[in-house]
Amino acid sequence: MAMHRDPDFDRFEVVPLTGVLGAEIRGVDLAHDHGPETIAALKAALARHLVLAIRDQNLDPQTLHRVARSFGPFSGNPVHTPLPGLDDIVAFVREPTDRDSVVGDHWHMDLAWMPKPPGIVMLYGETIPPVGGDTCFTSLVQAAKALSPGMRRLLGQLRGVHSARGVYAVNARSGRLGLSGDQRELDRVETLHPVLCAQPETGREYLLINNVMTRFDGLTEAESRPIIDHLLATALRPEFMCRVRWQRGTLLLWNNPLVLHTAIDDYRGYRRVTYRTTVEGWTQVPAQAAD
Ligand code: SIN
Repeated sequence: MAMHRDPDFDRFEVVPLTGVLGAEIRGVDLAHDHGPETIAALKAALARHLVLAIRDQNLDPQTLHRVARSFGPFSGNPVHTPLPGLDDIVAFVREPTDRDSVVGDHWHMDLAWMPKPPGIVMLYGETIPPVGGDTCFTSLVQAAKALSPGMRRLLGQLRGVHSARGVYAVNARSGRLGLSGDQRELDRVETLHPVLCAQPETGREYLLINNVMTRFDGLTEAESRPIIDHLLATALRPEFMCRVRWQRGTLLLWNNPLVLHTAIDDYRGYRRVTYRTTVEGWTQVPAQAAD
């Protein structure tokens, strides 16, 4: 049976993964075609589906760098040591004998405490286990739609405090990631973002929450926690999620501030190597005043 295709795209095949989030892309070869028209079409597909699994690519780190920079400038990454000679690419390596937890196996947003969190994250599958190691996503656009009018009004007045405390330690635990920067300095970073945001390019509203939002500005952690927990529970409904099964040569892109993601720790005994890069995002903009 033919898969349902998004009819609005004809430059390549766009096959939605669920009713609300994610799509598979086939029929594009980014190593040879990352010109402006292809990139513009992929950005339009990403704006609609928020997560894209572009199948059957053949990218080495240098080519990934060229493809990524066609999407926009590097966001910077104050945590990880990049590959030699490629400031914007980090290798995530998991060996068959590794026993520590997998990097990113909790619901999070990448570098959410940066003043401009990366707008797009790209992860390329270089070595992929025969089974396991999927990446799951949930839509913060759907989470925003699920809020009651009263909650929208409340959140419209609040800003979240996003803390980098502990980020260094979590990454150090994997034992395989080179870390750059100063742990003590990073642990002190706290950044304020509006809670109910609109994406400048599309006007789409999303609920900007994640696991590093510790409190609301002007409220204590104890006062904030029940609301944050409620918002996370709202965002983590199965009907807002998609799950991407990896293949070697998949380039996964996501609209970072509009989704949460988690790695799945279920592939002990297998090697997994991915290359990650990020595209500069935007200063978070509050959504229009509540209805
Ligand atoms: C990440 O959390 O950015 C990595 C996700 C993955 O390796 O599946």
